[in-house]
Amino acid sequence: MKINRNFLNLKDSYLFATVGRKTAAYKAAHPGREVIRLSIGDVTRPLAPVVIEAMHRAVDEMSRTETFKGYGPDQYCYGYERLIDSVKGSYARKGVALDSDEVFISDGAKSDLGNILDLFSVDNTVLVPDPVYPVYVDTNVMAGRRILFSDANEGNGFLPMPDRLVGADIIYLCSPNNPTGAAYSRDQLREWVRYARERDAIILYDAAYEYFISDPSLARSIYEIEGAKECAIEFCSYSKTAGFTGVRCGYTIVPKALVREGTSLNRLWARRQSTKFNGVSYITQMGAAAVFSEEGVREIGENIAYYRENARAISECLDRLGIWYTGGKNSPYIWLKCPFGMTSWQFFDYLLEEANVVGTPGSGFGRNGEGYFRLTAFGTAEKTREALSRIEKLIGGAQ
Ligand code: MLT
Repeated sequence: MKINRNFLNLKDSYLFATVGRKTAAYKAAHPGREVIRLSIGDVTRPLAPVVIEAMHRAVDEMSRTETFKGYGPDQYCYGYERLIDSVKGSYARKGVALDSDEVFISDGAKSDLGNILDLFSVDNTVLVPDPVYPVYVDTNVMAGRRILFSDANEGNGFLPMPDRLVGADIIYLCSPNNPTGAAYSRDQLREWVRYARERDAIILYDAAYEYFISDPSLARSIYEIEGAKECAIEFCSYSKTAGFTGVRCGYTIVPKALVREGTSLNRLWARRQSTKFNGVSYITQMGAAAVFSEEGVREIGENIAYYRENARAISECLDRLGIWYTGGKNSPYIWLKCPFGMTSWQFFDYLLEEANVVGTPGSGFGRNGEGYFRLTAFGTAEKTREALSRIEKLIGGAQ
């Protein structure tokens, strides 16, 4: 028996596990201190009432023989039509028409971003931005693929563009970006789509944060760009859009126009899902189906406005302190330059120990993240305000 030795090439632990462990150790050593976490992008607002009502109704249906549901419908890889129709409706509002069998319901973007790699040979070269959401790198390290990095930095606003000298087959893009909060314009996405088509490459487009876009000049879906259906797969999630981090539901769009080596990737993905996945629970799917109803959009909009207000407060605090940052405008993440020339982990320790505030060290997202730090706007308004007042006192006082 041989293990998959590629796992030995991974870092010891997943970034957020390391942050969690360090925070827990600090709390254990200082039990009286209130530590505020603005680190992992986990939501704090409760589910929207319309979602809760839909879930309650679904629970009631599960309690009666006549309305009980077992496995989901296999026609759409266990996605219920009500949910698929609501996803299609949300795309239609962005001017994108989809067929029902192009929408695959998942338990969240993270799983599918990893699982999709089943469709691709390990011989493909992968291009990821640096800094990057660690899942894109780690899942490819596990598979033993060659990974190239495109440099994101202050010079390009943390939005790297294609380099025609770099030969990539699988390209990861995330916009609005995790971790940097930067968002590609339509023109920039057009460039990426052109590059992918020239190379016959595939873009894996992570749109988990699209609902945070307030600037109408930014694309909410890669399919708003002409030609993208022939070169891109899009991953979306209800986690940040509708507070489903603990519920688990998302959707992945694999267009039927996406064909490589004469083979439809939509068919391959359907085959993969029907073999390795049994779908998302009926109760969860009915809750998710309520998200894009008229009332749902209004209610989740209130939660998103709440987080946006946190992002605004964080940005204003950094403005007052004269600290450089990106994000926070069309994104729940604020990516800041560590003050006093500190490294990312030095700043992490400094904030944890002196202000009892936890963020995420930029270097955990890649080499180019060194010297940067990520804060999230997903905390409660009260705790965010308290964290900011501590940060302002600490850094303002030391300047
Ligand atoms: C993050 O903090 O980067 C996200 O919460 C991670 C995730 O969505 O998996």
